[in-house]
Amino acid sequence: MTTILVTGGAGFIGANFVRFLLANRPDCRVINADVLTYSGNLENLTSIESDPRYRFVKADICDAAAMEPLVEEADAVVHMAAESHVDRSILDSEPFIRTNVLGTQVMLDVVRKAPGKPRRFLYVSTDEVYGSLPLEDKSLLFTEETPITANSPYAASKASGDLLVGAYHHTFGMDTVTTRCSNNFGPYQFPEKVIPLFVANLIEGKKVPLYGDGLNVRDWLHVDDHCEAILTVLEKGTAGEVYNVGGNNERSNIELTHSILGLMGFGEEMIEPVKDRLGHDRRYAIDATKIARELGWHPTRSAWPGALAETVRWYQDNTEWWQRVRTGAYRDYYEQQYGRAASA
Ligand code: NAD
Ligand code: TYD
Repeated sequence: MTTILVTGGAGFIGANFVRFLLANRPDCRVINADVLTYSGNLENLTSIESDPRYRFVKADICDAAAMEPLVEEADAVVHMAAESHVDRSILDSEPFIRTNVLGTQVMLDVVRKAPGKPRRFLYVSTDEVYGSLPLEDKSLLFTEETPITANSPYAASKASGDLLVGAYHHTFGMDTVTTRCSNNFGPYQFPEKVIPLFVANLIEGKKVPLYGDGLNVRDWLHVDDHCEAILTVLEKGTAGEVYNVGGNNERSNIELTHSILGLMGFGEEMIEPVKDRLGHDRRYAIDATKIARELGWHPTRSAWPGALAETVRWYQDNTEWWQRVRTGAYRDYYEQQYGRAASA
């Protein structure tokens, strides 16, 4: 049995990754260490919570003493716990620096100092560390050589973690690998991110708030493709390397909005143009040829518009899931499942 410690496994990508790992690697045990911030939701994991190969531990990545025994038990660490929403980082960057910078440094030191065999450390980074591309020249893409030019406090905090990972490989010879992925979509995404937010609003008869001129472009990848890429890099990636992950699926926000409206049977009148996000990055687009060429990974679940339609349908079929998030009721689940003593 191989034991993988996943940090942030109760979030959107984390929960999809934990399920993906258990389903695809029968010889794997998973420890999910998550402190359950507002975006951590154990209801994302009910389908596997009684699997004997799975264990949840409520713990903060900034707490070295809590992380040490978990790392010692593990053969490898997939580090994805983070503050993840750009708009929140604009309102208050402090939790982003704490979790994404300090938390990553704590995880690196705990893994580096853990007794016994060296452990692989995979850092789930983001394409947002590359800054922004112009709309005008579609031939420009982010490669692994594109300089780090983070623009939002979120991106700057993720980039700081990313640079620390590179520094720990260079300085201490740690076995690190990094993935930099584009925007994900799929089930269990917290309904503050654009796709679940827009679908949930429309179901509730509310308009969808489109920032600025709606021409900003994102490169959309299904979360299952991202999970497969993370596992591929964990198992086959070269120590010290960075791998871009993307779906070659660029869509402007207005195009995305029209697709969602069309799929749900609404018209233009449901779009509410709102003030633009401060410092709003214009375009993200990933060149993912390195991971394809060197590790044989290709997206298989992201084809548009089918994959978007499937995701929209998931939120239509699982209204209870996001309604419980919106009302805050999902937070009761921890108490019910683990009891008051466990959360103390
Ligand atoms: P999310 O906000 O849905 O989940 C984050 C999880 O981390 C939550 O379960 C939260 O409780 C946990 N967490 C936060 N602070 C913690 C702490 N101090 N200790 C322990 N756990 C903590 O985010 P997501 O969208 O699933 O993103 C996961 C990772 O993937 C992040 O590192 C993010 O930067 C990266 N990423 C996301 C995307 C995307 O499109 N969502 C794209 C590329 C990379
Ligand atoms: P988001 O899902 O927050 O992801 P990110 O900022 O990490 O790319 O936003 C995706 C795009 O959608 C981004 O260009 C901002 C835009 N957007 C809106 O137009 N309205 C909204 O209410 C939100 C949350 C995002």
